[in-house]
Amino acid sequence: MKIVHISAECYPIAKVGGLADVVGALPKYLNNSGEYAQVFIPFYDNTFTKANTFSAIYSSEILLGETPYKFNILVLEESTLDFDVFFVDVPDLLFKEQVYSFEDTERFLAFQIASLDWLLTWHTNPDIIHCHDHHTGLIPFMLQESFKYEVFRKIPNILTIHNAQYQGWFSHDKVGLIPPFNFDNVGLLDWGGQINPLAAGIKCAWRVTTVSPTYMEELKENANGLQSLLATEGEKCLGILNGIDTDVWDPETDSFLVENYTIKTVNKGAKANKKYLCEAFNLDETKPLFAFIGRLVHQKGTDLFPEIFKNALKNKDLNILLLGSGDPDLEDSLNALKSEFKGNYNTYIGYDEKLSHIIYAGADFLLMPSRVEPCGLNQMYSLRYGTIPIVTKIGGLKDTVIDIKEPNGFGICHNSTDIQEINKAIIRAVELYLKPNKYKRIRTQIMKIDHSWHASAKQYINLYKTLN
Ligand code: ADP
Ligand code: GLC
Repeated sequence: MKIVHISAECYPIAKVGGLADVVGALPKYLNNSGEYAQVFIPFYDNTFTKANTFSAIYSSEILLGETPYKFNILVLEESTLDFDVFFVDVPDLLFKEQVYSFEDTERFLAFQIASLDWLLTWHTNPDIIHCHDHHTGLIPFMLQESFKYEVFRKIPNILTIHNAQYQGWFSHDKVGLIPPFNFDNVGLLDWGGQINPLAAGIKCAWRVTTVSPTYMEELKENANGLQSLLATEGEKCLGILNGIDTDVWDPETDSFLVENYTIKTVNKGAKANKKYLCEAFNLDETKPLFAFIGRLVHQKGTDLFPEIFKNALKNKDLNILLLGSGDPDLEDSLNALKSEFKGNYNTYIGYDEKLSHIIYAGADFLLMPSRVEPCGLNQMYSLRYGTIPIVTKIGGLKDTVIDIKEPNGFGICHNSTDIQEINKAIIRAVELYLKPNKYKRIRTQIMKIDHSWHASAKQYINLYKTLN
């Protein structure tokens, strides 16, 4: 089957979070299973596009309402990627350093329209069009309703929801930007009086998936206003747990690490990475190292950190290292704690792929006190690198982490994001660390868990097959 993935992010081309990791890995695993998967992504002005050379294979114009915009379809002159990528270049709108910025309505509409226009000129139709998140949520609507794309009406399309908190709302005043469609069905675009690309995608896609089974169930109860829609569309909805790219995320070969290691050498290898982190960030190597990696946003529960960290660091019997960026006030409060807990606490405010890999390897525990976690990849990376995750028992975290109190358990779970409960979880982790045999046994146990994309890619293939 020929499968076209359309997405705002794809690792290593453009990454803000886990969406990039998924779209950078699933197509590769689909191809390895004998399918033919390709990716459409905007052409951004970023490190990847600066470091590579491209040639234009198609040039034309799209219309946003009455305004014409030039667009090109670019391909890499030399590719080291495991799948074909078509870069959708709308220079006036998409060519920015940041993936997300202001004017995203126009930017992602342009991306979606240019992607479909390019598909129109192609010689062979795909068997599946697979859209990701609200940035591509209007594609299922356009495929179903636009006069221009009528020829695609029989091509099955899927919408994967990576995060239902972001829905891409915009005002009906902008409805004219969408290519002409049967206006009797304008209601398909609407949710709560606004145009809602995620809702339109859920209504029109042939199938809707979420990135974990538990998240799908949670969304039927609470989906930032879309719960009743998901409940009524229930029959076409299912959750498929994300996987991880075990070639990229492999402590044995990971070139970012200070020292590589296997299950057999994890104690020595992880220690070398911890030593590096402790030296670089002035931490106490003799104490357990707790880390956080991620976006500093409400979803991740990071606003609770200042209080959690103050409680946890009181006795200075552990270290905390945080890598992330987001809410500027929170960044300031997290930095402000540095002087108080010098020697046991540090932050790196920013985005650093290499450092993230060293942290997955060198930390003893990874904190994920998320309020909402559609899947979460960090806990799966940390398991692969032998670092024990401490997670809220929700969404994909619930589907991937079993508490040490349970049979075959290997992680630490808290039921809510109550600060005391999270602090108790940290205390339980320190207690575990102080039992070296048990701690080491769990470390090797978690490295054996297989979260590679093999199983999940198969589930997607089965789903695609039911539609063809
Ligand atoms: P989300 O997509 O909600 O941010 P995920 O757990 O699915 O969360 O994926 C986050 C991805 O982004 C992981 O690959 C993680 O390592 C990476 N990441 C997040 N923040 C940073 C950062 N500041 N520096 C490096 N990598 C980061
Ligand atoms: C979203 C979610 C995250 C998930 C990722 C990839 O960003 O917040 O939980 O892992 O998408 O699907």
